[in-house]
Amino acid sequence: MKSPFEIFRDPAAMRARAEDLRRDGRKIAVVPTMGALHEGHLTLVRHARARADVVILTIFVNPTQFGPKEDLSRYPRDEEGDLAKARPAGIDLAFCPSAEAMYVPGSQTFIEVRELQQPLEGASRPGHFAGVATIVSKLFHITKPHLAVFGEKDYQQLAIIRRMVRDLDFDIEIQGVPIVREVDGLALSSRNVYLSPEQRVAALSLSRGLAAAAAAFEAGERSSAALVAAARAPIEAEPLARIDYVELRDADELTTVERVERRAVLALAVFVGATRLIDNRVLA
Ligand code: PAJ
Repeated sequence: MKSPFEIFRDPAAMRARAEDLRRDGRKIAVVPTMGALHEGHLTLVRHARARADVVILTIFVNPTQFGPKEDLSRYPRDEEGDLAKARPAGIDLAFCPSAEAMYVPGSQTFIEVRELQQPLEGASRPGHFAGVATIVSKLFHITKPHLAVFGEKDYQQLAIIRRMVRDLDFDIEIQGVPIVREVDGLALSSRNVYLSPEQRVAALSLSRGLAAAAAAFEAGERSSAALVAAARAPIEAEPLARIDYVELRDADELTTVERVERRAVLALAVFVGATRLIDNRVLA
């Protein structure tokens, strides 16, 4: 018989339940999120559902990964709506703690993945990845998963979590899921709700830039400068868009590359109005 759906808010209670599930021989998958769920998140849930006995969704808008000038206070929150979407997609349990429960007074320990956290998002958002690595490791300790599922949308985040799990001997399998896009190419993001209709059109320049670079790559172009220029052109032509970075990097180490000789990732961040959007494409 299937056990009833439960929401946990207390880390100790969540951990005790995960412990029981493990003792019963159940395979646990966790899908960490900050809520405001869309089809991208639900694709991760379905991926987990197909590979585990118990799927735990975590919803926590993690304050330590937001910079002082970022959108923590206005980040979209809709727990009820999120659970209504996630339950039919196949979650068994949800872990939705408060910030106070996750960061008790005097918390001062952080995990840093030293090299991978430096470029790209790390350069634009100092401290962001220490916040991500720390909360993800806390969520792992509380939900005790065998498997954890993340999106390739946040390419650097996925690389950092894989490295952290390897370096710190977490006994957890990490699986990445390809970017889920709207039919017109826009990568799904919780932040897309900030876009006005005009900005929504301008935001298409990100995926168009990536497609232009991929087409150049397919045609034989291997120079990093040329591929980056191909990606920048449609974005620069868009008056409502302002590039933060467009960079081609080694797909595993995220080091700079002059010419694509092995798998590389073209990663970009662009402001559309006040909204900062990211996207990426692997060239291989
Ligand atoms: P959040 O932005 O809510 O994303 C949760 C997960 O959904 C991440 O693994 C992200 O890569 C994935 N995701 C988001 N949009 C996607 C899309 N269009 N296609 C595929 N996957 C997508 O990432 C975070 O939260 C946080 O940093 C977190 C890991 C939860 C730590 O706080």
